[in-house]
Amino acid sequence: MTSTDKPHILVTNALPYANGPIHIGHLVGYIQADIWVRFQRMQGRKVYYVCADDTHGTPVMLRAEKEGITPEELIARFWEGHTRDFKGFHVDFDNYYTTNSVENRELCEDIYRKLDAADLITRRSVEQFYDPVKKMFLPDRYIKGECPKCGAKDQYGDSCEACGATYAPTDLKSPYSAVSGAKPERKSSEHFFFKLSDRRCREFLQKWTRSGTLQPEAANKMDEWFAAGLQDWDISRDAPYFGFPIPGTDGKKFFYVWLDAPVGYMASFKNLCDRLSAVGNQLKPKFEEYWGKGSEAELHHFIGKDILYFHALFWPAMLEHADCRTPTRLSVNGFLTVNGEKMSKSRGTFITAESYLEQGLNPEWLRYYYATKSNGTMEDIDLNLDDFVARVNSDLVGKYVNIASRIAPFLSKFFDNQVPQIEMGSLAEVPAPRESIASAIAVKQSKAIQTAFEEREFGKAIRLIMEVADAINVEIDAFKPWLLAKELPTNAEARAQMVQICVSSIAGFKMLTLFLKPILPTVAAEAEKYLQSGELSWRNLDLPLDLEKFLPTGHKLGVFSPLITRIDPKQIAALVEVNKENLQVTNTPSPQPSPAKAGEGENVISIDDFSKVDLRIAKIVKAEYIDGADKLLRLTVDIGGETRNVFAGIRLAYDPKNIEGRLTVVVANLAPRKMKFGVSEGMVLAAGPGGKDLWLLSPDKGALPGMRVK
Ligand code: MSP
Ligand code: ZN
Repeated sequence: MTSTDKPHILVTNALPYANGPIHIGHLVGYIQADIWVRFQRMQGRKVYYVCADDTHGTPVMLRAEKEGITPEELIARFWEGHTRDFKGFHVDFDNYYTTNSVENRELCEDIYRKLDAADLITRRSVEQFYDPVKKMFLPDRYIKGECPKCGAKDQYGDSCEACGATYAPTDLKSPYSAVSGAKPERKSSEHFFFKLSDRRCREFLQKWTRSGTLQPEAANKMDEWFAAGLQDWDISRDAPYFGFPIPGTDGKKFFYVWLDAPVGYMASFKNLCDRLSAVGNQLKPKFEEYWGKGSEAELHHFIGKDILYFHALFWPAMLEHADCRTPTRLSVNGFLTVNGEKMSKSRGTFITAESYLEQGLNPEWLRYYYATKSNGTMEDIDLNLDDFVARVNSDLVGKYVNIASRIAPFLSKFFDNQVPQIEMGSLAEVPAPRESIASAIAVKQSKAIQTAFEEREFGKAIRLIMEVADAINVEIDAFKPWLLAKELPTNAEARAQMVQICVSSIAGFKMLTLFLKPILPTVAAEAEKYLQSGELSWRNLDLPLDLEKFLPTGHKLGVFSPLITRIDPKQIAALVEVNKENLQVTNTPSPQPSPAKAGEGENVISIDDFSKVDLRIAKIVKAEYIDGADKLLRLTVDIGGETRNVFAGIRLAYDPKNIEGRLTVVVANLAPRKMKFGVSEGMVLAAGPGGKDLWLLSPDKGALPGMRVK
């Protein structure tokens, strides 16, 4: 069977929520899937690769309301950012869609009707917290109160950030709604459930789990869940809700976001099929052939470990009983830590994709590093920033690119930039022409490298690839072409050896490029240009390898450029710095110092000290939300003919549209501070403990922008 006879593949990535930016944690799973897809394509497999934004639910609805825009406007904005970030990291989807689409609504309704017809939907009454002011049921994360264990104030409904206790929202003391501040009431309403506890679901899932669909740790998790007993799944939410209405409920009930999210995989693919068919694409994929029961295509979902439950229980059970095919395989990635700890905004390790690209860091550095850490399991992955720099510099620059950097000058100087011809009989001691140790190793390793990619053990693939790179560099060291160069062209033996090492190294470099191509798509494209090889694919390595075919004598090479640069550790330090959420600005509640009495202690300053601070009346001409900042607003302030950009930690306290046009006081001579979202050129003055409780200073009537406060 040739590779093209193998089934076609549909790959999906988890759909990112449409109310936050893509960060380097997300990127783990997207980069892994993208590498796998590129690898499969290089083997001649037909692959479709789709994703979308996960747009529905309460957080999107409330955030849009707070910003004074529609949910549709909000999700359109995030869609732009997400597609830009994925493109920036070369995550190359065939379609990046949205769950808020007609296709998705129709598919959800259809699946729901089929499940209902199969008697797998039931209804019962559920009691929940209700916000009487906002007139809505409150998801757990929107209820706050005092921790039942340690008494800390303002804790979320599920766990305490102060003491780490976990509990139910009903355990909180003095609970309040995080939306309106009102005291929540308990109220019942009717909910719709998918009957996961039904014998048919359980029996199907037990079979499905054991059909090669899951990594061993995931299968173990499933066994734990089976042992605990499968519970029915609540798939409805009451209005108001941003989502799809459940048919037959008069707009009172909506599908829970987690019902329509995975259906979003189908909807994105459906939209792709329709688009390809509309442009008369030759290979029009047919939706039914991929999603209908009995489909021969493979379906691979790449997800993070936190959402295994949804993808391994509800999703396959829904598909099975809605007359659809079920997933071939789930590829589950672990979570990212940075320097061994959870990503943190205050440490600057909550690094957004956008900031990484904006700082001019090379996305292929991160792709490479994540690949070295990927072993196909659900274990967490650590991005150690020092190791990141060391690994990329030593492997990519020091080993791989170095081969071409060392050899390219000789090829162009002595051989007119062509693959030189070996003059038969001129070689006394070197092995048979065109057979080098390095290429031989590369050929021998190629099967193992292929298997490692297939199994998503990219770290193992890289170890094997770097062994080849090491062997080639050792060979170059042994031949010492820089010494041979001094004896060319008079010494025939030296020339023969130079031919040998050049051919062998460039053949090896070409193989390395092929192996690394799924991980480093643009570096490989540049190398292909130098090699003038056309698009490399696994077919170039068909065994037994004919080196004359792989690298023909007389083949003209292109212009060599360095392909990839080293990482300067300063770039990483700067990246961390811009991702530190500014804690100086008025956004952290700090303990109230007691006001110093006149003439007392270190707190006393002279009038000269005070006059160093240039305080000015400022007019807020513009106030805006910032994507990805939970505490900051971006203010444009007029300080008398000059406008400044100021970030202020007042997001929770003020709605931007309510402060535009008002006067306040700013520190005008504070050193500019580079922050994640731009440079802050001043500080606005406010009082209060922080969070919602902050009050901007205002001058009395008559003060004008630019006036000095003294
Ligand atoms: N919207 C859901 C998925 C719906 S799929 C039908 C969701 N979104 S998410 O934005 O929170 O996460 C998107 C993906 O990124 C998920 O696979 C999630 O597991 C993964 N990750 C989010 N944070 C991560 C890390 N810190 N580390 C590794 N993966 C992480 O979940
Ligand atoms: Zn507590």
